[in-house]
Amino acid sequence: YWILGRLVQVLTSRTHAVYKKWVPNTNFENGTNWDKGTVPCSSDRIQFLPQKEVSVYVETIHGIQEMNLPVDGEFILPQGAGFAASNGQNDDCGPGSEVTFKDTELLLWFDPAQWQAASSWDNLEKGPFLFSVHGESVPCPQDDVVFWADSSFRVDTTANQLSVPVKSVSVLGNRFSSSDDFAQYLSSHSGRLQFHGASKVHVGEPGCSDKMGCVCDNSANHDRICSAVKCAPTDCKKPLRAAGHCCDVCGAIVHLRCKVGFDLSTYQQRLHHLFLIQPSYQSVQLAMSRLSTLWPLRLLSQEVVAEIQVLILDGETGGESGRVAESLARDILRDVSSQGTRLGIEGADYQASSGGSSTEGTSSNAGAVAGGVVGVLLLVACLLLLAGSEIGELGGPLDHGFDNPMFDKPTLMPAEPELYVRETGGSIVMTNAGIHFVNPSYDETDFET
Ligand SMILES: *[C@@H]1O[C@H](CO)[C@@H](O)[C@H](O)[C@H]1NC(C)=O
Repeated sequence: YWILGRLVQVLTSRTHAVYKKWVPNTNFENGTNWDKGTVPCSSDRIQFLPQKEVSVYVETIHGIQEMNLPVDGEFILPQGAGFAASNGQNDDCGPGSEVTFKDTELLLWFDPAQWQAASSWDNLEKGPFLFSVHGESVPCPQDDVVFWADSSFRVDTTANQLSVPVKSVSVLGNRFSSSDDFAQYLSSHSGRLQFHGASKVHVGEPGCSDKMGCVCDNSANHDRICSAVKCAPTDCKKPLRAAGHCCDVCGAIVHLRCKVGFDLSTYQQRLHHLFLIQPSYQSVQLAMSRLSTLWPLRLLSQEVVAEIQVLILDGETGGESGRVAESLARDILRDVSSQGTRLGIEGADYQASSGGSSTEGTSSNAGAVAGGVVGVLLLVACLLLLAGSEIGELGGPLDHGFDNPMFDKPTLMPAEPELYVRETGGSIVMTNAGIHFVNPSYDETDFET
């Protein structure tokens, strides 16, 4: 596979690590975990729902008068924490009432709202946190997952497959990166209380060692992720849907075509220092993801080895919604056209929710061509998929696509793809010329318009 060959060339010791922290906790001292919104006082009667399993971290010592425990559960007591009998005569507490620990069953691993992401362990605590498309807000297989050390939690890890692969999981200060050790932990009493559901988290995946970034493959659970997301209404002309995102958004999407030498972390820093620190871009959120749909791009240039999607949102509303994001997209394109070669970026294009895009002549023509070629090839791929019922998942016959002799003969494509393809408002129109697509893996397929 040529992709693997290329990837091996760009492997470096520098990693592009992402840490994902589970935000909610089931700590005793967290008021939001109690039905009254506050931590019980010594005169309160404490109830745990009898049929619910809980794991509860207790930070300090609490005087209690009465506490009803669930059928199964645990208190995690660090040194100095605990419970002491109390007669409830504490002046600060008032007469006391019944206080119930809330149901903790409902929190889902695949709910993007429950996670925070950071590029380093240090940033996990105070930020800056990374903004991501929904599909990458939950842990990716190459991520380090962190459950905060001084906290308890309970997470439903049900997935669309039997296992949920990640690089490592840290629980209560212990980091598990060996699949055997973690499997053993999961079968322990604590492990069973903290992680429940039909699928099991599996650690030991390799981290991301590609400085161009790694594809976050959560596609198998995309519907599950999106069912946890509630989309806000949009008020722009042409809302955009970014790859991996669950909602249509107002803003802009930039696609970068990257060559060997591109470094995602360095480029993120560049965008930060050049643009994001500007006051006018203060409200901007920017998510960068490496896309898995690379192969059609090879037609364009043998040098392009990765495609990066940059989703840009802003805090604007009404008629201004997405305008600031679009202006940043144009700044990014200008930067690419002047510095792209040095940064390992072959070209870029953008679309904005105002209806604007780089195909409208403001900048790089290459962008328009790329969009068109990708569009056509995706269409061709779709038609082939429809035509060939035997085409299976990755690893199936579709892989033959990489052996396509056409890729080594770019001249088979007309020099100016615009002649026969144009993208209009999201749909693809073929004009003038037919596309003749010969692939030895399939019957000869001929598309004429
Ligand atoms: C309290 O719990 C809620 C929900 O689990 C969580 O979002 C919040 O961060 C917690 N607060 C603290 C101080 O731990």
